[in-house]
Amino acid sequence: MLWIKAWHVVFMVTWFAGLFYLPRLFVYHASATDAAGMQRFCIMERRLFVLMTIGGAATAAFGLWLLARNPALLSGAWMQAKLALVVLLIAYHAWCRALLRDFARGRNAHGERWYRLFNELPSLFLVGIVLLAVAKPL
Ligand code: HEM
Repeated sequence: MLWIKAWHVVFMVTWFAGLFYLPRLFVYHASATDAAGMQRFCIMERRLFVLMTIGGAATAAFGLWLLARNPALLSGAWMQAKLALVVLLIAYHAWCRALLRDFARGRNAHGERWYRLFNELPSLFLVGIVLLAVAKPL
């Protein structure tokens, strides 16, 4: 069980590395003006999104494996609240994909300041989910 939990946390870290870095790339991409630079951002964002998705999928797979081995955990209010935040986090991940596509199609609608605010959201998710998972306050 502890090995599964350890891999769950390892992949969570890789997922969050992408969730922190991709919106940061969006901040710089939104203020870029040269075509070569914008093209380079598109390539970096696309490759990072693939790695980030692998991290997210593996986090969920090991998490579901932990739940399958101990389904009683689902009755805990902390686990229910955690999974609710995880669903929102997956929605944020999908939003990143939509924004990535807008950039690739030259249809970005947001400025640098908007992306700086957007970039703050993953840290709120991380604090909320980890506190629920470790301290189990509910
Ligand atoms: C579909 C997604 C997820 C599922 C199904 C899931 C499920 C679980 C389960 C069943 C445990 C074991 C709990 C225990 O034995 O006490 C666990 C532990 C943990 N999860 Fe998740 N999790 C998911 C996503 C996440 C995410 C996104 C994060 C981080 C932001 C996270 C952070 C943790 C941590 C830190 C632990 C270790 C808690 C401890 O033992 O102290 N999980 N998870």
